[in-house]
Amino acid sequence: MGILSRSPTYSRRSEDNGMKLLATALFSVTLAFSLVYLFHLCGSLRLASLPQNLLRSIAISNRHSDIAAPVHAIDISKIWVPSNPKGAERLPAGIIASESDLYLRRLWGTLKDLKKKPRYLVTFTVGYKQRHNIDACVKKFSDNFTIVLFHYDGRTSEWDDEFEWSNNVIHISVQKQTKWWYAKRFLYPDIVARYDYIFMWDEDLGVDHFDAEEYINMVKKHGLEISQPGLDPEKVCTWQITKKREHVEVHKFVEIMAPVFSRDAWRCVWHMIQNDLVHGWGLDFALRRCVEEPAYEKIGIVDTQWIVHQLIPSLGSQEKEEGGKSPGQGDRCYMEWAMFERRVDEAEKEYFKSLQVQTSSNSTTLH
Ligand SMILES: *[C@@H]1O[C@H](CO)[C@@H](O)[C@H](O)[C@H]1NC(C)=O
Ligand SMILES: *[C@@H]1O[C@H](CO)[C@@H](O)[C@H](O)[C@H]1NC(C)=O
Repeated sequence: MGILSRSPTYSRRSEDNGMKLLATALFSVTLAFSLVYLFHLCGSLRLASLPQNLLRSIAISNRHSDIAAPVHAIDISKIWVPSNPKGAERLPAGIIASESDLYLRRLWGTLKDLKKKPRYLVTFTVGYKQRHNIDACVKKFSDNFTIVLFHYDGRTSEWDDEFEWSNNVIHISVQKQTKWWYAKRFLYPDIVARYDYIFMWDEDLGVDHFDAEEYINMVKKHGLEISQPGLDPEKVCTWQITKKREHVEVHKFVEIMAPVFSRDAWRCVWHMIQNDLVHGWGLDFALRRCVEEPAYEKIGIVDTQWIVHQLIPSLGSQEKEEGGKSPGQGDRCYMEWAMFERRVDEAEKEYFKSLQVQTSSNSTTLH
């Protein structure tokens, strides 16, 4: 009896439990579908497969919902900005930093760490033996200038011991290379885009009569894109950029010991520097390609701020260390000059040939 009377009660109880379970399951399913429907309705979540996306959508939330939503669901694989720099199209344009500077930043505190943001860059290609001359040169440039030393003799730490300013300048050490080699590798236009003017100076220049700030004023005043301080002390205080003197002035540029480039001119000149023609010979005659015509108004010598060429052969100390013999540098210079001219000629011919091809193909379609 007991068993009999107990059994219907038991079965009823289990029936009740079954109902509860069913109700719970139904409720859960309904809830899930309602949620899915809700998110669909909100419109910005693309729910392709249910369970996975349900989890994601709950985690991510939605911009349009009333709940304060932290993030909009974003499919970063869909980003493609064709106007971005080549290779960076997958990034939203706002995060792209395609240009840089050579400002030294501190590693602590706030990001407002720069007291000065110089707009001019000065580089010297140096060997330790010329340190006293470089010391005199560096002192001519105020903190309105970022200073970079390219060391061709591998001696850099000694400078720090000797000169206070050495701790605040940038030292780049690569042995036995030329000014143009360093410039091509380390002064990429986007890297130095911050600077209005770039000085690329040799180590053997006397600067007693040179004032950097005044020089900048003159260059700006006369709109010079490529310039150099005067080298002839006889011509102090005269401004000599005239059409008639163009050949004389340009001829002075043969050695290009102390060129100063505007940002735009440098962007062009950098592209013209050949990777293998390290002496840069012939470059001086091609510089005019990098400025608007008439070139004589954009390229000039600033004679009011003049320097002295001390006639110490550049990289001279290296040659001595190699046993007093010149390693045929002169021959190499002339060979490079000839090669550079040939490349320019050929490139020019190709360009005009391609124009002709284009023109003639147009005319054939017209007929
Ligand atoms: C640095 O540049 C500023 C702004 O052009 C100028 O006022 C200041 O005189 C310059 N500093 C020196 C030492 O010439
Ligand atoms: C030749 O065609 C190109 C484009 O197809 C056009 O840009 C150019 O101006 C044309 N040249 C002439 C001379 O019609």
